[in-house]
Amino acid sequence: MADNAVILAAGYGKRMKTDIPKVLCEVLETPMIRWVLNACEAAGVENIYVVKGYGAEMLDEYLGGKYETVMQKERLGTGHAVMQAMELLKKDPDGNTLVLCGDAPFMDKETISAALEAHRSQGNAVTVVTAELDEPFGYGRIVRSENGISAIVEEKDATAEQKKIKEVSSSCYWFSTKALCDVLPEITANNAQGEYYLTDCVELILKKGLRASAYIADDPKVVMGANDRRALLELNEIARRDVIGKHLDNGVEFVCTDGIIISPEVSIGQGTKILPGVILRGKTFIGSNCVIGPNCIIEDTAVGNGVVLNNVQAYQSVVLDNAKIGPFVQLRPGTHIDEGVKIGDFVEIKNSTIGKKTAISHLTYVGDSEVGENVNMGGGCVTCNYDGERKFKTVIGNNAFIGCNTNLVAPVTIGEGAYTAAGSTITSDVPSGALAIERGRTTIKQDYAVKKLKARTDKFKNSQ
Ligand code: UD1
Ligand code: CA
Repeated sequence: MADNAVILAAGYGKRMKTDIPKVLCEVLETPMIRWVLNACEAAGVENIYVVKGYGAEMLDEYLGGKYETVMQKERLGTGHAVMQAMELLKKDPDGNTLVLCGDAPFMDKETISAALEAHRSQGNAVTVVTAELDEPFGYGRIVRSENGISAIVEEKDATAEQKKIKEVSSSCYWFSTKALCDVLPEITANNAQGEYYLTDCVELILKKGLRASAYIADDPKVVMGANDRRALLELNEIARRDVIGKHLDNGVEFVCTDGIIISPEVSIGQGTKILPGVILRGKTFIGSNCVIGPNCIIEDTAVGNGVVLNNVQAYQSVVLDNAKIGPFVQLRPGTHIDEGVKIGDFVEIKNSTIGKKTAISHLTYVGDSEVGENVNMGGGCVTCNYDGERKFKTVIGNNAFIGCNTNLVAPVTIGEGAYTAAGSTITSDVPSGALAIERGRTTIKQDYAVKKLKARTDKFKNSQ
């Protein structure tokens, strides 16, 4: 007997005015459906099914085949959406099924678990998660009965009296799977919107003599959903403040919070200071006592302790302890920066490892390279890793010294402790300890400039 979750994610998002599925709209740089998936997983729900519809290919791509999905070809309402998952639910009718909306990102594992507890202990066939809102407009209202609830009424179908009800449905429900499968086929579209409402399950369940009740969430925020851009911005602001609050409690320092956006899965160590304009995305880990910012984008990247990132963009990379990077540096995917490395302004690194205490101070591009420890790369160096068709690797041994404006034409290996002369274009391997010079010799033309100047002044004088 396993529990299921069905996440409704087929909606078109007409009110959101977007071309992508509404559930992929982001709160703190994280699609709303990711928040909901994380909550289901954290609550330990065994089988997670996603109902897709509008923009199904985009949603499939985002989910990356990690979840079972069902297609809702026509969007005929939330009840119709759950019907699409019925065959999957019937496989295991003895457990409970959690239904959630993919556009309500704040539903959390505590609420899901506490609602299940209430659902089980009260012997309910359906338990709706609700909250009391000062401004209930747009939400389904909860009509209470003596020992439970008697209906959920949508805004568009509600009487003036019902519209005054402040308790609203989050559209997150625990159902007994069997009861859900029994009533789903009985839902009709007799309402203001001509849709198959999942909310009608409550009345149908009561008609069968089963219990329907509500679980009032401790934190009313969990019911909040985003149907339009204004609501999405409001969710972003609430979440932004909450996430920053959590990091403050963990000993992270913020001097001010302007332009700081931290995704929900990011972790930051104690004593780290986050300066304005920092965006931390995805699964990013930042260690202790770092200074991050101003103006960084750090995505799916692990950062050690004592690291300084100033005006850095880093994607799918690793930066180890005490590295000092920036300003104006980009670390593209697959970059691994070892301890104590110094990277200065206008440097781009891609798919490369940089060894301990190496310095790459300015205006340099390192791609598809293995750079050893204690290497010094001067200004303006370029690893020429691409011949227009294929990519090649550059290897630089420990303690090597790459002179300013060296081009390293890959595949090429610079041996340990070797030097390259400034301005060289190195096209063959350099043995350890050697100096490679691959440039034209300096030719001195004695007094060239003096003579040229004299010729010009003479010409001028003669013309007077
Ligand atoms: C719904 C509830 C309302 C509740 C509110 C909470 C119904 C009828 N109404 O209203 O009681 O207070 O959520 O946020 O259930 N979807 C599909 N297929 C469809 C229609 C919708 O998958 O055919 C999905 C949407 O993508 C969305 C979710 O179901 O994720 C909710 O649909 P939406 O149209 O946003 O319903 P609300 O009007 O917000
Ligand atoms: Ca909604």
